[in-house]
Amino acid sequence: MACNIILRYCLDDPFDIFFYFLEPDGFLAKKEVKEFPFDHLMKLLQVTHSPEGMETLKYFLFDICGVAAGWKMEDVLDEELKVIKNTVTPDDHVEGKGESYGTFEKDLHLPVTCVDASEQFLSKLKGVTEPEKKRKIIGSEFISIFDAFAHDLEQKVGKKPAYLVQGTLYPDVIESCPPPGSGRTHSHTIKSHHNVGGLPKDMKLKLIEPLKLLFKDEVRQLGKIMGVPQAFLKRHPFPGPGLAVRVPGDVTLENRLDILRKADEIFIQAIRDAGIYDSIWQAFAVFMPVLTVGVQGDQRTHSYAITLRAVTSQDGMTADWYYFDHKFLSGLSTRICNEVPGVNRVLLDITSKPPSTIEWE
Ligand code: XMP
Repeated sequence: MACNIILRYCLDDPFDIFFYFLEPDGFLAKKEVKEFPFDHLMKLLQVTHSPEGMETLKYFLFDICGVAAGWKMEDVLDEELKVIKNTVTPDDHVEGKGESYGTFEKDLHLPVTCVDASEQFLSKLKGVTEPEKKRKIIGSEFISIFDAFAHDLEQKVGKKPAYLVQGTLYPDVIESCPPPGSGRTHSHTIKSHHNVGGLPKDMKLKLIEPLKLLFKDEVRQLGKIMGVPQAFLKRHPFPGPGLAVRVPGDVTLENRLDILRKADEIFIQAIRDAGIYDSIWQAFAVFMPVLTVGVQGDQRTHSYAITLRAVTSQDGMTADWYYFDHKFLSGLSTRICNEVPGVNRVLLDITSKPPSTIEWE
């Protein structure tokens, strides 16, 4: 058992920190630390990226706290079905949102209506550079588009949809709000996820969020039990605010989104062709809003840079960058510069989470 690993017990304030120290004999000592003791042999415990992380957590929960590991994913399914059945009557209309409508229609036999609201989103995002503001605008636009759609549906079928189904995950909640039980009035929000902190206060649709208490890996287990196709379950996550959080700053300037889409397509296809898609938790390209000097043919260029981001993770709460083969990277860089007009430089993001987050905004 790793004896030097320390569990963060409660972080009320950066200067008021309690730790549980796991001593070599299993004795647990709680100590208050007035200043973060970075120079000590200490680590904040993470499940996958701390050596023996899972073992230490299990030891803490089962051996020290005496918690019983009594629940199964099947119980979650039963529980959530009960909640939905008690909330929604057969006559109620429900709207759902999700980016993979192919699967909703083909595999889950749910009718899907696609709404192209790109102009609406982009006109609201014009000139906006502050990441939290961008996220809040996107969250609020989502809802106003759903409200308008609900109104149209009411005209057609005579009944207004009352509920909105969202695939909100537990990390979306954690990152959007102050920690539960922290008693904090001010927020240490990491980022307002469009579907949590980004929702408007006066929203008319009632929310149904059956996955709200689960992490991504648990949602995948649940999907497996429900018979959701593997290709859908293994798909890399895509953030609700879309490419807007992969273009730092004003997303609407020039043809930034076109450049990003082209580079991203080459990157993801190369990952698939190399057979490493399933070994990576999430991969994507990021547009760098910075012009750099290059030379292509005999010509001087003054073009944008693209950053490649690929991470391994279990639940998105912590992540490490993926170690690509050098040959793969060099071929990819040449292809992106040759095939994407407006790009003359390719960078690789080699930061873990923390200190970075997975997305750039
Ligand atoms: P970060 O950038 O917070 O990302 O390290 C962790 C995971 O969450 C995804 N993400 C979002 N998903 N709405 C979503 O549905 C959001 O607002 C949002 N922001 C980040 C991100 O893609 C990664 O998988």
